[in-house]
Amino acid sequence: MLISNVFSLASVPKHIEHFSKFSPSPLSMKQFLDFGSINACEKTSFVFLRQELPVRLSNIMKEINLLPDKLLTTPSVQMVQSWYIQSLMEILEFLDKNPDDHKILGEFVDALVTIRNRHNDVVPTMAQGIIEYKEAFPQDPVTNQNIQYFLDRFYMSRISIRMLINQHTLIFDGTANPVHPNTIGSIDPHCQVGDVVQDAFHSAKMLCDQYYLRSPDLILQEMSSKKKNHSISIVYVPSHLYHMLFELFKNAMRATIETHESSNNLPPIRVMVSLGGEDMSIKVSDKGGGVPFRRIENLFSYMYSTAPAPQIGDHTRPPLAGFGYGLPISRLYAKYFQGDLQLYSMEGHGTDAVIYLKALSTDSIERLPVYNKTALKNYKVSQEADDWCIPSKEPLDLSNYKVAK
Ligand SMILES: Nc1ncnc2c1ncn2[C@@H]1O[C@H](COP(=O)(O)OP(=O)(O)OP(=O)(O)O)[C@@H](O)[C@H]1O
Ligand SMILES: [Mg+2]
Repeated sequence: MLISNVFSLASVPKHIEHFSKFSPSPLSMKQFLDFGSINACEKTSFVFLRQELPVRLSNIMKEINLLPDKLLTTPSVQMVQSWYIQSLMEILEFLDKNPDDHKILGEFVDALVTIRNRHNDVVPTMAQGIIEYKEAFPQDPVTNQNIQYFLDRFYMSRISIRMLINQHTLIFDGTANPVHPNTIGSIDPHCQVGDVVQDAFHSAKMLCDQYYLRSPDLILQEMSSKKKNHSISIVYVPSHLYHMLFELFKNAMRATIETHESSNNLPPIRVMVSLGGEDMSIKVSDKGGGVPFRRIENLFSYMYSTAPAPQIGDHTRPPLAGFGYGLPISRLYAKYFQGDLQLYSMEGHGTDAVIYLKALSTDSIERLPVYNKTALKNYKVSQEADDWCIPSKEPLDLSNYKVAK
């Protein structure tokens, strides 16, 4: 147990060193539900979080320090780093506090709310840092790869930390959720997938109507191998599912409208929700002309965004395209509980985007980055020669090979 009462700035590296030696503890959907069930114990949750939050924060702070110097020292990344340090110090204050003291538990909830608000703008601020770095320095594939690796882990860590904070504050702030009385924190034990599809579609449709003055229709179909004629539900975080679907719908609508500009009819967006023994999958299909196969991987890249870089606070940009983070962040939400998000496109026709989630709550377990030797090695990859030939643009002059007769 740490004994110091004064968590000065100078002692921060020591604490990061200490807590980063622990691996984060991934929670299952069931464990999340147990924290919020009838025998929910605020004390247990408090004691768990005052250790687990510093562990998750410190693990990822070690990785921030491995970023290329020129990125690490941008004002934006410096600001993000200072938020992490501040929040870590505020949680460490609770290490030697008495869990039986109600006043302490109340102060902890308040501290978590402050921390959550402090970190609201981490994604756009980090994105700003990347843009500054990209403008100042020529990109090389190795740095791109490192930054992609880092940001996937950094944003995943952020999703998980916010999940822990949300669960604790929602369950223990003393009020019931008036809109969704059956949810446990942010988890709905009976999340109606079709309803979330409809909600997300309608929000995207409103944006689309506003900007393009028209929008495609939705055709929704549900298929379940087990429960015939039953609407499909899973144990899930509806806000995460909504986020993914909203992003997919914005993309599908924009593609549909831009490829059918001169036509009076817009092909509808088709959604298929399917429940099996292992997977619950959602396919969003559009006829928006598709993307060349070569570009698919880049669509998930934080460095190759196609949209012009928006400035923070700039509200003039088209609402259906922003930083170009829609797909990569949505894929992280899917992966967070052991799912995935993939794009299957046929250039000239359209795109199928598929969200794969676990059908069983026992399979839905947090997927968390851990700082260890393997992670460290991933930041050390150097540029090596490709082990595949580079295709030549010039046709080979075969006349050189002619055997003299
Ligand atoms: N269904 C689709 N059809 C055609 N192109 C698509 C589709 N989905 C994505 N894309 C392409 O992939 C790019 C990246 O998508 P992504 O959602 O990550 O970012 P964005 O839409 O540009 O910006 P943001 O989503 O952050 O507002 C898009 O700009 C678009 O060019
Ligand atoms: Mg998008």
